[in-house]
Amino acid sequence: MNEMNDNPPQPCGSPPPDKITRRGFLARLSLALTGLCAVIVGIPVVGFVISPLFRKMKETWIPVGKADDFEIGKTVTVPFPAPSPLPWAGITAKGAAWLRRELNGQFTAFSVNCTHMGCPVRWLPDAHLFMCPCHGGVYYEDGTVAAGPPPKPLVRFEVRVVRNQVEIKAAPTPITTRL
Ligand code: FES
Repeated sequence: MNEMNDNPPQPCGSPPPDKITRRGFLARLSLALTGLCAVIVGIPVVGFVISPLFRKMKETWIPVGKADDFEIGKTVTVPFPAPSPLPWAGITAKGAAWLRRELNGQFTAFSVNCTHMGCPVRWLPDAHLFMCPCHGGVYYEDGTVAAGPPPKPLVRFEVRVVRNQVEIKAAPTPITTRL
């Protein structure tokens, strides 16, 4: 009886399919070592880049000027450094706020950044409005939304006066773009 053979005939000198050649072994070893090196180098780099995102951010009282130097009823910008800027923050590590000394002597401070997409808003003293140039967002002088796409009022900062020094409680958020 003639038996059927399922294996095709191998060319003379080539290794059987289940046998790894020396060249194949070295290629796989090279790939494995490359991957290992990439992991060894990559983990610390990725860790360095993303670790600040998981660090607890602290809020800080930042002095922005003497209380007597602010005119009652006037809204002005006050620059300040971000409390805990990320190492690569660059210009965004410089914060600013719109500060107003109210008629009763109290201070009100708003973030300069629009709550829509973060563009810096401008104060229009004649209209008593904050205007965002990016998409036409408008806020009333109390920070609430008057028109346009902003989904919520301007962020307010806490303000205190200590020995005639005005201080703003600032947190290291993305809302720290300088005007
Ligand atoms: Fe201000 Fe869009 S960023 S309206």
